[in-house]
Amino acid sequence: MLLLGLACLLPAKAIDLAIPYLFKLGIDGATREGIGPGHRHLTWREELGLAALAILIGAVSAALSYAMRRLLVRASRDFERDLRLTLHAKLLKLPQHWFGTTTVGDLVSRMTQDIEAVRMALGPGMMYVGNAIVAVSGAFALMFFMDRRLMLWMGVPFLVLGLVALLMARRLGRASDAVQQGIGKISACAAESFSAIRILKVFAGEERQHSRMRGLSLDYFDAQMKLAAARGGMMALLYAVKDVSHFVILLIGGMSIVARRSTIGDFVVYRSWMLQCFWPLVTFGWIVSMVQRAAAGMRRIADVLETVPAIDSPATPKAPAIPARGKALPIEWRDVTVRLGGRTVLDRVSLEVPAGGSLGITGPTGSGKSLLVQLVARLVDPDEGAVLVGGVDTREWELHSLRRAVGFVPQEPFLFSDLLRENLRFARPDASDAQGMEAARAAGLELDLAALAAGLDTRVGERGVTLSGGQRQRATLARALLADPPVVILDDALSAVDAETEARILARLRAELEGRTAVVVSHRVAALAGLDRIVVIEDGRRVEIGSHAELIRLGGHYARLEHDQRLLAEIEAL
Ligand SMILES: Nc1ncnc2c1ncn2[C@@H]1O[C@H](COP(=O)(O)OP(=O)(O)OP(=O)(O)O)[C@@H](O)[C@H]1O
Ligand SMILES: [Mg+2]
Repeated sequence: MLLLGLACLLPAKAIDLAIPYLFKLGIDGATREGIGPGHRHLTWREELGLAALAILIGAVSAALSYAMRRLLVRASRDFERDLRLTLHAKLLKLPQHWFGTTTVGDLVSRMTQDIEAVRMALGPGMMYVGNAIVAVSGAFALMFFMDRRLMLWMGVPFLVLGLVALLMARRLGRASDAVQQGIGKISACAAESFSAIRILKVFAGEERQHSRMRGLSLDYFDAQMKLAAARGGMMALLYAVKDVSHFVILLIGGMSIVARRSTIGDFVVYRSWMLQCFWPLVTFGWIVSMVQRAAAGMRRIADVLETVPAIDSPATPKAPAIPARGKALPIEWRDVTVRLGGRTVLDRVSLEVPAGGSLGITGPTGSGKSLLVQLVARLVDPDEGAVLVGGVDTREWELHSLRRAVGFVPQEPFLFSDLLRENLRFARPDASDAQGMEAARAAGLELDLAALAAGLDTRVGERGVTLSGGQRQRATLARALLADPPVVILDDALSAVDAETEARILARLRAELEGRTAVVVSHRVAALAGLDRIVVIEDGRRVEIGSHAELIRLGGHYARLEHDQRLLAEIEAL
């Protein structure tokens, strides 16, 4: 389609160049100033014929231009859409830790500005470049055949013009890059202001954030002024060169008309050709900066597309069929090592949970507990070793069935800005209200639901801001339970709930988790005591493992934790 579009461009432009020649014939015919023998006045019929011909081929040229624009626009928009979807699909597949290396604002600008830059170069860019090449080379070729002397005279100012445009283009490119970056920074800052609005208020940071925005806006203003100056200077220079060329045509053309070496018609045709060459040169600088920006944008897009360690389904997945309810899956961490940012955050950890069994994980903050459970849902892949769910390496599972099999309640609850009902149903879109209520009950959310005016119809603010921290956590728990997964993972999922409520929820949850494999990360002994086995992770290593009673007897980290928390409870009870 791109080629077809460009193919239309060639005849369209060639015709544009021919039209002035028809005028020349008309004018020369009228003034009888033709050169050479046998030149005569054209009859009015012949003049009319020329005019009709000019209109006709003008119409053909317009039709071809129209077709070219349609084809090029279509081709570039097709490309834009495909590129955006490819990029989006790839981003969704990248492991979550990759997102720690970049910012949302940066990704958004890749999805929008960078893609737009590439499209501009492909569509309008191609069109202008094609136009310029055909117009300039065509006009000069015609002049070469008609009057070489004039061509040379015209060539000099155009050469100067081309060089000037090229030099200015670099300044223009830099200025417009600065403008692009400025607007990117402003939108990132605005996004941050509004998503961090609570923090801003708590720390009285409004003034600070506003002065940051003021600084960015000033920078943006300066960048725009520089761009305007560069553009203005370039235009002024280009017009100056155009006027010089005009002067040359007038002088040389006039002289040769007087000397009867050429005609008024020649003069008219040269002037039109010169004007046709002028516009491509004016846009030259713009095109160069457009291509530069597109190249930079494409590089940034390719960076994402070429990021290899995407987490994706294998070509031939080897998953066990999802078992019916009650037939849980065993989990095994086999000598797992994970490195992040050049640091070993999990060091040769081996653990097993039998089907239907339960495992508690505790340990100091930052010791690697979250990572350990994220491996099961394949949010991270191990650098060494393997994680097996249902006896199959997670990397051999079909990714979506693995994640459907693993009900994951993350440490930081996230809810969409939607009805509470839809938030719960996110894990299972076909769930009924009754099933939703059941899951809410299991997660200890039913009292809150009764207290919330609209129950399941309550609208949740962005990222769940209209619910309390504990309500948010229990809503994410209910969401995971609603999917009825054979494996349930709670990553410190009840940390925001008071100890008493937590104990109540866990007691009910135990019935709910009956027959499923459960992994519970918690800092609270009360949440862990009833589980089959408990592991203590310290500094990415497994340091203690056993049942509650065994670990108490061992007298290590877990026993200390239990002692401290028991004392605290006793003090509180006083
Ligand atoms: N994207 C990342 N890049 C580099 N290091 C990371 C990344 N994510 C986590 N880490 C590091 O990995 C270690 C383990 O993190 P993890 O979230 O598993 O801790 P945790 O035991 O769950 O802590 P907490 O009890 O506070 O939730 C931490 O030291 C953390 O700094
Ligand atoms: Mg954690």
